[in-house]
Amino acid sequence: MTTTFPEGFLWGGATAANQLEGGYNEGGKGLSIQDVMPQGLLTPPTDGPTQDNLKQEGIDFYHRYAEDIALFAEMGFKVFRFSIAWSRIFPKGNEDTPNEEGLAFYDRVLDELEKHGIEPLVTISHYETPLHLARDYNGWTSRELIGFYERYCQALFERYGQRVKYWLTFNEINSVLHFPFMSGGIPTPPEQLSQQDLYQAIHHELVASARVTRLAHQMMPGAQVGCMIIALPVYPLTPDPSDVVAAMHVAHDSYAFGDIHCRGEYPGYLLRRFREQDIELDITDQDREDLTNTVDFVSFSYYVSTCETADPVKKVEGAGNLLGGVPNPTLQASEWGWQIDPQGLRVVMNDYWERWRKPLFIVENGLGAVDELVEVDGTKTVVDDYRISYLNDHLVQAREAVADGVNLLGYTTWGCIDLVSASTAQMSKRYGFVYVDRNDDGTGTLDRYRKKSFEWYRQVIATNGAHLQ
Ligand code: BG6
Repeated sequence: MTTTFPEGFLWGGATAANQLEGGYNEGGKGLSIQDVMPQGLLTPPTDGPTQDNLKQEGIDFYHRYAEDIALFAEMGFKVFRFSIAWSRIFPKGNEDTPNEEGLAFYDRVLDELEKHGIEPLVTISHYETPLHLARDYNGWTSRELIGFYERYCQALFERYGQRVKYWLTFNEINSVLHFPFMSGGIPTPPEQLSQQDLYQAIHHELVASARVTRLAHQMMPGAQVGCMIIALPVYPLTPDPSDVVAAMHVAHDSYAFGDIHCRGEYPGYLLRRFREQDIELDITDQDREDLTNTVDFVSFSYYVSTCETADPVKKVEGAGNLLGGVPNPTLQASEWGWQIDPQGLRVVMNDYWERWRKPLFIVENGLGAVDELVEVDGTKTVVDDYRISYLNDHLVQAREAVADGVNLLGYTTWGCIDLVSASTAQMSKRYGFVYVDRNDDGTGTLDRYRKKSFEWYRQVIATNGAHLQ
């Protein structure tokens, strides 16, 4: 059995601009949809920015990036996943020319990464559509966003093409099915958004993703472009074949995004759904051709698995699971109700590898938990054994999948430094190896402290996984 990960395995951590940068109106940055989401997904968007929005200051990475990247280097990171805030580069999203100050900020970030020999992994769009595009175009329901997004990508590829090899087009693209505003910049309330408009928006995103994949390959020989999806194994609640079929239907929701990104065409099960629900998409011949530009690798986040049943009586939605679903009676959940299933990671990795035969990249995984800063031998730290155990157990299963033959490029834990939560906009839902002194009410020094998991992860990386138990 393989006891370590492949040579050159990309160990690291992942973040998103809107959750850590702060500086929401500095350097010529425009507003993004996150500036009107002070409670994350918990309440509907506000009319404008409000001061209770922790993301306005984030963890001040905008000013402290050098210090933070030095901490990542100390852990031995090989890769750092971060996103570029679209509205730093094109403040309204649809200008003709990019904002130089915004471009210069990411130059500085890349300089620091290079200094430490850390490979950048860039998410082009991570839940931060420029607010103007959401308000004036109804987000991705408008075909015009394809052109705006391409112009944005072209500016990134021109500026950073020599320095960035790995690109992700849209964070968790399948989440638009559940969170049309956060994921697709679509202000229409979900209950009023028709399936027709939703799938048209999805089509625009998929075409945009394929078009910039082609553009990346044209402009940057050697570039590796990945899609990014929420990986969600769906188990039948019972062995009843009706439950198995119900689980298959839910699984198709997510498979569709990978199938189109990897195979370059719509799968039959989705076309059937369109026919049966009278959804008639505007798909041009050019769109069909564009979609054939398939991705180089498949990246995904993995936090939870879920169950599905055909029995309406048992179909109680799991309150905490991000994407709903029926709770699995055999699993424990995190403090936020997300069910913990390390073996599900092995299952989904085998499944994706067999289905798409593209290298995989785990770009998010981690435990959101309440941490307590304590003093140990005169040093402030967090004794986060629960986080070590969560990550250890998932990495052991990832290693099993590699032993099963899965081609895995790398692993970046979510929120390698504490940052603002996406779903609840809290600071207290912490994922990091580095504790950031900031509280839910916005107080705190923003000082950084190494948690116990910091040294643990350093050893995991140093031994290429042999330190796992
Ligand atoms: C993923 C997102 O859904 O999960 C991240 O890509 C997010 O942006 C992460 O932060 C964890 O979710 P949360 O809500 O705990 O921050």
